[in-house]
Amino acid sequence: MQKGESVLIHSGSGGVGQAAINICLHAGCTVYTTVGTQEKRDFIKKQFPQLTDRNIGNSRDTSFEQLIMSETNGRGVDIVLNSLAEEKLQASVRCLAQGGRFLEIGKFDLDSNNRLGMKMFLKETSFHGVMLDKVFSSSPKIKKMLYDLVKEGISSGVVRPLNRTVFPSTEVEQAFRYMAAGKHTGKVLVQFRPEEERKVVIPALWLMQVHPRYFCNPNYTYIIAGGLGGFGLELADWLVLRGARKLVLSSHTGVRTGYQSFRVRVWRSYGATVVISLADITTKSGVRDLLSGANSLGQVDAIFNLAVVLRDRLLENQTEADFVTSAGPKSLATHHLDVLSRQMCPHLRHFVVFSSVSCGRGNAGQTNYGMNNSVMERICEARVRNGLPGLAVQWGAVGDVGLLAEKEEEQPDIQIGGTLLQKVSSCLEVLDGFMKEPYPVVASMVVAEKHVGNGGSDNLTACIANLMGMSNITKFPKICEQFMSKFFCEIILCA
Ligand SMILES: NC(=O)c1ccc[n+]([C@@H]2O[C@H](COP(=O)([O-])OP(=O)(O)OC[C@H]3O[C@@H](n4cnc5c(N)ncnc54)[C@H](OP(=O)(O)O)[C@@H]3O)[C@@H](O)[C@H]2O)c1
Repeated sequence: MQKGESVLIHSGSGGVGQAAINICLHAGCTVYTTVGTQEKRDFIKKQFPQLTDRNIGNSRDTSFEQLIMSETNGRGVDIVLNSLAEEKLQASVRCLAQGGRFLEIGKFDLDSNNRLGMKMFLKETSFHGVMLDKVFSSSPKIKKMLYDLVKEGISSGVVRPLNRTVFPSTEVEQAFRYMAAGKHTGKVLVQFRPEEERKVVIPALWLMQVHPRYFCNPNYTYIIAGGLGGFGLELADWLVLRGARKLVLSSHTGVRTGYQSFRVRVWRSYGATVVISLADITTKSGVRDLLSGANSLGQVDAIFNLAVVLRDRLLENQTEADFVTSAGPKSLATHHLDVLSRQMCPHLRHFVVFSSVSCGRGNAGQTNYGMNNSVMERICEARVRNGLPGLAVQWGAVGDVGLLAEKEEEQPDIQIGGTLLQKVSSCLEVLDGFMKEPYPVVASMVVAEKHVGNGGSDNLTACIANLMGMSNITKFPKICEQFMSKFFCEIILCA
């Protein structure tokens, strides 16, 4: 930076903006800046009397480009310190003069791998990505250089304390929300300890409640069986937002809807590799293919089984084929995933299956579904006993997406197995906690108001038949009888 050069500093009322304006003015540069509101404009003029409205543009649109061009007679500025994104970044690039330097401190366009266009370099300009967080891992020489610069700046008055808004340590969330709203000027601070009158070398131990969050490793692979289903797409999105960049979504049909392909495109735009695996997870060889494909992307960190095929019917109408079909993606797939992941995924951190309240509490017409969920839960219990990861989540009725999404439109207060719909965003929040618990089987549901009665059955046999999903007990009197005698035997034995 040379005396006499011109500099455009975006978001001048922020902490970085104010600090940069101070330094540039002190170096004898002409400063242009941008702000988002009238209050911030007034703040800048008060803080830096050298700056007038002719030096201050708007950071919420691209009109600053016109201001710069008219104030510099079409020449542009020598340096841009940019933190604005997308079209505002492009407009800022156009503000560069011949030989100008562009310092990018915002991460949005870099992270999104957005295009820049080569034309800017015809003016012999240069573009620099500046990652302040990298300073922490830089060489001691660079750290010493920065330290000396700040020290010199403090003694010469260039580096001055910035104005700040201070939140108490109990209001960390509010502090982040305040900053995210972009209404602040200067620094937003969280005060953990009051200023000490005398310097205390070892501060007193300070305890605070924290909520650790589940994070994914971008180098590892995350498998979701049933990943293109309603809940599966939400889970995949959640994993990507938590850092996953390698996803294998297993499906027996592949991408069928525009919505599925839209979601996959969005994750790919974040830089994620998304593989749709059509391997048949109901067979051992299919699961082997799924796991070896996933391993070829990177070490498998977590396996989620959400795959389901419903064959709901009252027991008297069920066939053997219904039981076999519904067992495929749940009992069989989970069994193969368990056995093979023990050999093929030695570093697995999570093995999660989605079970249901239909298993935990029972639901008429879902005998095979309940049974298969139960098999998956027992597999998870065995895994935990063996010191391996294993988690089965019994969900109540899930809202917004998945199996019940269509029914929800017709009947928003629908009840399944005595539960009301739990929003999928709430399910994911709960899942975050479950993933850190040591228990193999957990449940999350919104329990509906309980009704007194026996479900419309007015004698014990009818009540048991109802529990077993039989509408017509006269067809199966023997089964009910046997069930009752076994039931009472067990009660007597327990007693
Ligand atoms: N939604 C709820 O209210 C609720 C409540 C309790 C528990 N759960 C559990 O949560 C999980 C997800 O449910 P959901 O609502 O998202 O259901 P969903 O929308 O029907 O998704 C399940 C997906 O499983 C896939 N699938 C079936 N067989 C497969 C196979 N052999 N291989 C690979 N994928 C297979 C299907 O996708 P393809 O056609 O792409 O193969 C289907 O879209 C299920 O395990 C369910 O039991 C859901």
